[in-house]
Amino acid sequence: MTKNTAIQNAASIEETYELMKARLSRVVPDFELVHKAELAFKINRLKRHKNAVILAHNYMEPALYHSVSDYMGDSFELAKISAESDADIIIFCGVRFMAETAKILNPTRTVLLPAEKAGCSLAASLTGDDVRKLKARFPGVPVVSYVNTYADVKAETDICCTSSNAAKVITHLMERGHDRVIFLPDEYLAKNVAAEVGIPILFPSHPTSRKTDDPANFERVMLGWEGRCEVHEQFMVEDIENVRKQFPDVVILAHPECSPEVVNAADFSGSTRRMIEYVRDVDAPRYLLLTECSMGDNIVAENPHKEMLRLCSVRCPHMNLITLEDTLASLEQNRFEINLPEDLMNRARASLDRMLEIR
Ligand code: 13P
Ligand code: SF4
Repeated sequence: MTKNTAIQNAASIEETYELMKARLSRVVPDFELVHKAELAFKINRLKRHKNAVILAHNYMEPALYHSVSDYMGDSFELAKISAESDADIIIFCGVRFMAETAKILNPTRTVLLPAEKAGCSLAASLTGDDVRKLKARFPGVPVVSYVNTYADVKAETDICCTSSNAAKVITHLMERGHDRVIFLPDEYLAKNVAAEVGIPILFPSHPTSRKTDDPANFERVMLGWEGRCEVHEQFMVEDIENVRKQFPDVVILAHPECSPEVVNAADFSGSTRRMIEYVRDVDAPRYLLLTECSMGDNIVAENPHKEMLRLCSVRCPHMNLITLEDTLASLEQNRFEINLPEDLMNRARASLDRMLEIR
């Protein structure tokens, strides 16, 4: 989505409030906007003073997303932007693995994460040690890791991917003669990508893994891990059936971290950016996003004529930790700074650079 320059350049709290109201009145109650406009005005003023930029993931709450963000996007877009930024400070309004990625790609900048505990269940599901063990078990097999991993995993990885380029990365490796690829850590993304590129997938670390599941029995195969996104794993085919019963004309979009059954039952699947573009470009009476609920509000704020249904009982507790209050405190107090050992960053950067080189 595009930065709202007018809000960012507003000369007073009152003007900030009026401009925020024009954009957000469908999704944020007025009494809350009064409070948020004051915070947004202070953040925008301080950001200019400190030569800072705010990168906001598409899951950020609508007031923050539309009033203080210089760049909004999915993890791939934000990784590219952070690599190229010449700001002194990058405030990452997202989760820790995203802020780490920004630091790894642009180590001379100060990178701040407004909420210290903003983690991710996928990133927490795998360690560098786990990857070393897999590499010892499958020597020479390239390791592809989703960016939803911490620096210790990226340092053991050959090439990173995001939800928007995972299939491309697997195809790239297979075309270069790699018949086996280790794909970590998201079980569902791995299954969805395997189906997209038409390659079988095994989970060798699963206790029920059988002898016939030996990768040697397959001409080409992906080897996965069983990490899950605690948000997307909650969506069920039954949710889709229930919504379609009530709204037969709904168009349903599912993030590829949802189960393959959910992705197959949906009308479209793609990264958060692709979902935003789909709703913008395809006319439908109403849409349902099977992903973090704030994104629906962010779309409505920019496309007020679009009707979004909500399944808002499913939220990302980590993304939701990032508030305007904490973003202001982050700017004022330079907190919470991302610092990583240089050697780890150098090894992790190689895997991100390889991803960014693939067109
Ligand atoms: P995107 O890269 O599609 O924005 O996804 C990031 C994420 O964490 C989804 O849960
Ligand atoms: Fe991690 Fe899932 Fe939250 Fe995305 S939505 S940050 S994958 S826990």
